[in-house]
Amino acid sequence: MSTVADDAPLLASLHSAASRRVYNFHALPWGGRLEVQDPRLAAAYGELTQRDLRCMDVSYGRDLLDAPFDPSGPLSEAQARAAVVFGSDSTIFVSMGATCANTIAVGAAAEFGRRVLVDATAHQSVHFACDLYRLEVSRVTSLSPSSGGVDVECILARLQEAAALGRPFHCVVVGSSTYSGLRLDVSDFMHSIHRISPDTNLVLDDAWSAVHSFGDQTANSSPTTVARRLRDRGEFDANVWVTHSAHKTMYAMRQAAYVHTFGRSAVAATQSSAHRHHTSSPSWPIMASLDLARAHAQSEGNDRIRDAMNRKAVIERWLHAKGFDGVGDAATFSRWFHQDELRLVIPIEESPAAIREVLLAQDGVYLPQQFGPNLIANITIGVDDEAVDALLSGLSRVQITPRTDAQRKAEQRGDAPYPTVRDNEYLIAYPPGVPLVFPESRLEGGSRTGFAPNSAGLATLHRVSTILHE
Ligand SMILES: Cc1ncc(COP(=O)(O)O)c(C=O)c1O
Repeated sequence: MSTVADDAPLLASLHSAASRRVYNFHALPWGGRLEVQDPRLAAAYGELTQRDLRCMDVSYGRDLLDAPFDPSGPLSEAQARAAVVFGSDSTIFVSMGATCANTIAVGAAAEFGRRVLVDATAHQSVHFACDLYRLEVSRVTSLSPSSGGVDVECILARLQEAAALGRPFHCVVVGSSTYSGLRLDVSDFMHSIHRISPDTNLVLDDAWSAVHSFGDQTANSSPTTVARRLRDRGEFDANVWVTHSAHKTMYAMRQAAYVHTFGRSAVAATQSSAHRHHTSSPSWPIMASLDLARAHAQSEGNDRIRDAMNRKAVIERWLHAKGFDGVGDAATFSRWFHQDELRLVIPIEESPAAIREVLLAQDGVYLPQQFGPNLIANITIGVDDEAVDALLSGLSRVQITPRTDAQRKAEQRGDAPYPTVRDNEYLIAYPPGVPLVFPESRLEGGSRTGFAPNSAGLATLHRVSTILHE
């Protein structure tokens, strides 16, 4: 007799993956034990995750639930509550990932002008959205190929030049929390932009730091917190959009994302852009999970972040005892970035890919992020003590060795040739989904980012074509 695997192989594989206990150090460990203390919220998570999916994944509109565009019922109420907590003038829920959230944000910013200055190290979705809107793009590359993070001084210099010529950029688009574990010091950055080019709008892809807005120790550098504060004080008047890939750090389902708008005059532009890009059939369970994730983070986020930071400190102490003195200092290359408080960057001498493979096979430790020669562990809320024990026992067995400064410098110089791409193609390393090469005519001063190919680790390389009509 044939099995499900014969008829529906993906489903069969998903079942088998789901039945495995995996300690997830990548994005939110939604599959593990949920650390939710409030019994009402715990019950709500039970409802969301255990109720028959067919009862929740419904095609109801305004008559039974709400309208996806221009909502006036529970979706509108849920989004309004999120806006209050994040301090935005509007927050919209997205059930199509931060990829879509970035497209919406760039599409809204495009209403305010075409000349944009873009962080070349930003996620592919930002670049594709700029292409879609035929924006006049200037890109700024990375300062440190082996750490990621855009060259902020260069952004400010470009803004200065453009303002002096009387042609200021309409918008700057930057990754404020990177795949490689960096957070931009948004407050200084926004003050500098305001001083140089006060009408320039700002899009911040804060994909990896949604939950950070809820912690005493992390909120201060959250773009949402900072944008609210600076607007209230009149220290940044232009519009700001912040996107969050909620499922990476909060108890929300995959593809759950937020777009926050700061600037009342930009709210309608965001709504129109969401209408253009979002499906008209949102996944209601995903949308509801954004509501619940906000409620959870609002009441318990600070405690959970404190737990996560304590667990990260346990791992750091273990690593220090093994001679890893450089753990978590990935941001020392630039005064504009600091290490993500919930992410651990472990510079090792061995091949990260080989280590990751063994940890997964033997310990069930899922550590899929690597950036160049670093292992990266996302210690967000929900990574529990059992997961930390599993990681440490796995690392004890595989015997990792700290990488030296000399090795780090040599790696930064390494520059193996890229595969050839055509003029209209991107070369993208996935993960992290950052272009290594841009379509030839689109990047001023050359088509390559500052990323060395080894920054892509063992990622697969993709040639993706774009349409270039001059
Ligand atoms: C910086 C950044 N922005 C956006 C995205 C896209 O997020 P999503 O997977 O939710 O579409 C990613 C995905 O890894 C990312 O790293």
